[in-house]
Amino acid sequence: MCGIVGFAGHSEAAPVLLDGLARLEYRGYDSAGVVVCDGKDLNVVKTKGYVEELSKLTDGGKTLPGTVGIGHTRWATHGQPTDTNAHPHLSFHGSLAVVHNGIIENYAKLREFLIGKGYAFKSETDTEVAANMIDYYYDDDILKAVAEATRRMEGSYALGIVCKDVPDTIIATRKESPLVLGIGDGCNLLASDVAALLRYTRNVIYLEDGEIAEIKADSVQLYSAELERIEKPVSTVDWDVSAAEKGGYEHFMLKEIMEQPDAVRKTISPRLKDGRVVLDGIRLTPEYVKNLHKIYIVACGSSYHVGMVAKYNMEKLVRKPVEVALASEFRYCDPLVDENTLVICISQSGTTADTIAALRQAKKLGARILSIVNVVGSVIAEESDDVLYTWAGPEIAVATTKAYSTQLAVTYLLTLYMAEICGTVTPEKYDWAVRELEALPEKLAKLLDNVDQIQYLASIYFNKEDIFFIGRNIDYALSLEGSLKLKEISYIHSEAYAAGELKHGTISLIEPGRLVISVASYTPLVPKTVSNIVEVKTRGAEILSITTEENAADLAKVSDNMIVIPDAMDLFLPSLAIVPMQLFAYYVSLMRGCSIDKPRNLAKSVTVE
Ligand code: AGP
Repeated sequence: MCGIVGFAGHSEAAPVLLDGLARLEYRGYDSAGVVVCDGKDLNVVKTKGYVEELSKLTDGGKTLPGTVGIGHTRWATHGQPTDTNAHPHLSFHGSLAVVHNGIIENYAKLREFLIGKGYAFKSETDTEVAANMIDYYYDDDILKAVAEATRRMEGSYALGIVCKDVPDTIIATRKESPLVLGIGDGCNLLASDVAALLRYTRNVIYLEDGEIAEIKADSVQLYSAELERIEKPVSTVDWDVSAAEKGGYEHFMLKEIMEQPDAVRKTISPRLKDGRVVLDGIRLTPEYVKNLHKIYIVACGSSYHVGMVAKYNMEKLVRKPVEVALASEFRYCDPLVDENTLVICISQSGTTADTIAALRQAKKLGARILSIVNVVGSVIAEESDDVLYTWAGPEIAVATTKAYSTQLAVTYLLTLYMAEICGTVTPEKYDWAVRELEALPEKLAKLLDNVDQIQYLASIYFNKEDIFFIGRNIDYALSLEGSLKLKEISYIHSEAYAAGELKHGTISLIEPGRLVISVASYTPLVPKTVSNIVEVKTRGAEILSITTEENAADLAKVSDNMIVIPDAMDLFLPSLAIVPMQLFAYYVSLMRGCSIDKPRNLAKSVTVE
């Protein structure tokens, strides 16, 4: 949601801003704009529409001369997506311009205050309020004005500010919304995520809450919220620019599906040493793990679905109660969490607003927080007691695939790690599990050779308007993810049900020709799922089953079509069974002509409640 780019250099800023905004498009947005300082004036161009439109309006940036500027992609919160509401916003006196991600919660009060001081507003946004608050405190020291204004803002923000009087400078600050500085050669940059910077530099500084940066072409000076000078280390991002490009694939989603064997290998391999799971980065002591009363997994969307798989696996192997909660529910349900509870937050982006709120609430209640995150330096990673990073690389498609798979991989490692500490896994089973984990990337690669069959199945079913997914246990957790993948990018109505629940209501929706995708990989419950398949088949449903080699013969008797995945230890089957569902969703959407990487109404990182 919303993206920020800033550039201060010795060459033209506008083309860099347009390129950076294009690289942030995946985050989801509905309007875009840039402002460039030409040494004298602040020239703003903005539009309700895409970066391509902005590029046309500025002739690829040529109509906006100047070497310092900031740009923005806006996902509407306060006010409709219109040209006027698009960022950047000029202050009432025109002396400064602001781009903003996040939500200023007390904006209405601040707006009233400013109106009382003679300010007028053109837009409905909280961002224009921020611009005018800074303007209100501006005398001749922009740093001081930003510090004063932000002290009075409640909520979340990442701000980029340019000021006419200091035309060589960008000021940036943040609270609960990410901002990263790019340290270049003869230029310095600013962005809400590294994907926008990789073309120019891999040297970055992650800004933390309350810090303020003064960015010029040849220097970056950092300050605390109290305006004391501070120093921070420069980190090197090990993704290269190709990681955030399509590399010959038609869509990022397909590229990211294909990257899964490698991403899972990168996530698992460094944590397996001499046949043991080694989680160096975390500081859970064996006593703490043994004495845990409960594990709570908190997440949203697909990350929540990973939590569902983890619950089944952890309860089976670690023998501790595991609750999985949607972060948006957890934060308002007065959760039973205390110092003997481990709260695991799962988030690809590390910036999901509900997950951040849940994390903070759990922390307040005394729980220890372990997060599973893909984006280094993100809010969730920073605020957790322990972090296990997924090494998926940048995920650009809104529909998550490789991040989901690497999150699953981390939960497997954690499950084995805790089971060994708790003595709830036999040495034989542990060794078998480690061998299976090592073999997982290879099995994933083998599965991805099966694309033709899935393309064929998509061509049979892409016209369906309702598709049901059913499964039991881990296969139910997978059904939820398979159904989400399909609906978010193909816009086909889809539901996922625990197969045993069908008779309690949903079966009334089954009629001749309805497609039911049955996920039946978990051998102990396959006979039960087969019975449920027979129930819907009798009522005219068409059955597409996803099952293992071991169970293929049983499923063949009741299915119209089948996708067979390799056998594996049941703990790890979800990693294999999800792949055909991702590909099915992809090809169905392709055949329906959908916008696969940027589905309507969705954003990659959901930074608002
Ligand atoms: C799934 O394809 C979606 N992109 C969405 O459900 C996502 O998993 C959810 O918004 C959580 O995001 P996070 O992992 O970045 O916290």
